[in-house]
Amino acid sequence: MKEKSHELRCTGCGARIAGTDATSNFRCAQCGELYEVVYPWSSDGANLPNAGALRWLWQERRSSTLPIDQSGVWRFRDLLPILDDPSHAVTLREGNTPLYELPRCGKIAGVDWLLAKHQGMNPTGSFKDTGMTAALSVAAERGFKVVACASTGNTSAAMAAYAARAGLTSIVFIPEGKIAWGKLSQSMDYGALTIQLKSDFDGCVRVLNDLVKRLPIYMLNSVNPYRLEGQKTPALEMVEQMDWQVPEHVIVPGGNLANSSALGKGFEEMKRLGLISRVPKISVVQAHGANPLYRAMQASAGEQLSPVVADTRATAIRIGNPASWRKAVRVIRATGGWVEEVSEQEIAQAKAEIGAEGIGCEPASAVTLAGLKKLTRDGRVGREERVVLLLTGHTLKDPEYTIDFHRGTLFSDQEASSLRKPPVVLEAQTDAVLKALESSIQL
Ligand code: F0G
Repeated sequence: MKEKSHELRCTGCGARIAGTDATSNFRCAQCGELYEVVYPWSSDGANLPNAGALRWLWQERRSSTLPIDQSGVWRFRDLLPILDDPSHAVTLREGNTPLYELPRCGKIAGVDWLLAKHQGMNPTGSFKDTGMTAALSVAAERGFKVVACASTGNTSAAMAAYAARAGLTSIVFIPEGKIAWGKLSQSMDYGALTIQLKSDFDGCVRVLNDLVKRLPIYMLNSVNPYRLEGQKTPALEMVEQMDWQVPEHVIVPGGNLANSSALGKGFEEMKRLGLISRVPKISVVQAHGANPLYRAMQASAGEQLSPVVADTRATAIRIGNPASWRKAVRVIRATGGWVEEVSEQEIAQAKAEIGAEGIGCEPASAVTLAGLKKLTRDGRVGREERVVLLLTGHTLKDPEYTIDFHRGTLFSDQEASSLRKPPVVLEAQTDAVLKALESSIQL
């Protein structure tokens, strides 16, 4: 173990421990709070790598044939020295995701320049791959044989894939009947032991927390701080893709609330290293039916959070008792961001609007655009602000949602939308097709 390459610091009481000393549930033994990974350069600026040299090195690695250089996470390994030997990294060449312009969605939302960082373009179709390559590599290097997670479907898909690559056994706990089929199929495809609990996500977390205390299982939920080290790299990649310019605003969906803090950590570290001169506002958007953070901000400015019973068709973020809410509050406050909630109708409409620009995403990702519309409507985001939406999952994760939207069967009270394009069934006769075309498109 590289003695001082990093430590874990409790985000509650500040206690520091060696990475290998964390308890199996990744909670501080003193105060019960979560850890974050800290490096010698994290606080006092000592041993700072030079910003110019880092930019050059990260660019150079793009043309290398080494697997770790081809990874959009490990390409930035200088800022996540969490492995004894970086060649131990278990990689599927994650990251390297596109930053798309969304001019039509920007117009709808009332901003001049809207971008989408599409994390659904990762190997297993979600942003979870960036965190999984980091934490699962740590598990493999430390000799764990069995890994597990509770999931709404994307973490489990990512974990199953990376565990398979590393030859580890993986156990997935998912709420029965409450995750999208695409995701369920992935964990089976990659050979995980898939356990559907008759509960919700929060119930799955409870059972897993009990199990890791009794068995030598390495937990890969986002309470594992190494996950966040990988999930901070899209922040680096984003500003690199913007020629080291920083957007004014980054908007992320909120579920278990780890991703917002991971990105915040990425931006803050870049600022400390002189790679950027300021950090963007980071805002979090939740579904109305799964909005414990939104409620907490309204009721106590983020001091207290009361769990809710979650319900939304954006199943990825159907979470009532988010583990990392304090970390999220810290980043939102530090960056001056907002927390919003959006209705099921607003999510469906926003997803169709993103889709109509040729960029598919899963419903949980579309909360970002729906939330942006609310932030611009009352002036919290100005027209001139450059906004980046974090699209967290691929549209094929949940095709049923898309089909139900276009058929008009998503909810019992689904509103009309000009973007609905239900499939047309016709006899296989040219005349019938011509007639249908005349009435539906201009030729
Ligand atoms: N978007 C997608 C597509 C997700 O899968 C998740 C979380 C989130 C957003 C929310 O991110 O939890 O960091 O606030 N999915 C987890 C899972 C919980 O098990 O796949 P968060």
